[in-house]
Amino acid sequence: MSITIKTGAEIDAMRLAGRLASEVLDYLTPHVTPGVTTEALDKLAHDYMVQVQGTIPAPLNYAPGGHTPYPKSICTSVNHQVCHGIPNDRPLKDGDIVNIDITVIKDGWHGDTSRMFVVGKGSIAAKRLCQITYEAMWRGIVKVKPGVRLGDIGHAIQTFAENQGFSIVREFCGHGIGQKFHEEPQVLHYGRPGTLEVLQPGMTFTIEPMINAGKKDIRSMGDGWTIVTKDRSLSAQWEHTVLVTETGYEVLTLSAGSPPPPDFAVQQATSA
Ligand code: MF3
Ligand code: CO
Ligand code: CO
Repeated sequence: MSITIKTGAEIDAMRLAGRLASEVLDYLTPHVTPGVTTEALDKLAHDYMVQVQGTIPAPLNYAPGGHTPYPKSICTSVNHQVCHGIPNDRPLKDGDIVNIDITVIKDGWHGDTSRMFVVGKGSIAAKRLCQITYEAMWRGIVKVKPGVRLGDIGHAIQTFAENQGFSIVREFCGHGIGQKFHEEPQVLHYGRPGTLEVLQPGMTFTIEPMINAGKKDIRSMGDGWTIVTKDRSLSAQWEHTVLVTETGYEVLTLSAGSPPPPDFAVQQATSA
C-alpha cells in the first residue's frame, strides 16, 4: 500500500469527520472535573457520538494485528499514562492531567483528535508539560506544506520539546488517516530534516506527539493497551488531523471549543 491522496469530495467528508471529533471534546470539557470517572466520560462520549452526531466511535472493538479488541469508545490517559488508557471506574482527582483521545467515523471517514485536560487546579509543572506539548504539536503542524518532508516535521517537534528538557516517546507516532483509522505514512515526532516522505497536496495525517516530563522509555500494562512511562513521570499528548493543501496546511479537527493556535502559528497564517 501507499499514501492515499484525497479528492475534493473526500476532503469535504474528512472536514466533517474532523470537526465532529473535535466537537466530542467540546461536549466533554465541562464534565472533566474532580470526581468524574473516565468510564462516565466514555459513556457520555459514546452516547453523544452515536445518538446526537450519528458517528461511530472508531476505538470500540478496534483490534489491529495482535491486539485484543479495544473495549471502550474513547482513550483516557491519566498522569503517567502515555496513550491508549482504558476508561475505568477510578474518579479523576484534583491535579490529575488527562488526555482524551477521540476518533469518530462519519460516512466512512475518520477524524482523530486529542486534548489535555488539567483536573481542578494542576501543579505548575503539570500545566507546563501540557502547554509545551501543545506548542510542540503546533511546531510540527506549521511545517506542513507541499515539498516539505516528514523528517522536517519530526525534527521541529523533537528539538522544541528537548530544548524544554522533555523527552519524545518513539514507539508511537502520527499516521495517515482516511477511510482507514491508521494508514500510511507513519508520522514520527522526532527525526532529521530533509529525510523521509515528501508531502503532497491531498495527504491527510495526524500529528500527535507524546512527550514525557522524565525519560522517553515506556512500558505496556497487562491490559493489552495502556502505555505508561517507565519512570512513572508525567506524560502529555495533543493530536490534530491535518490536510496538506496547495500552499500549506489545514487543520481538520477544529471546532468552536478548540484552544486557539499559538501566536507563531497565527502569525505565519496571516503573513502568507
Ligand atoms: N486515537 C489513537 C490514535 O491517535 C488510537 C487509539 S486506538 C484504540 O491513533 F484502540 F486504543 F482506541
Ligand atoms: Co491518531
Ligand atoms: Co487519536
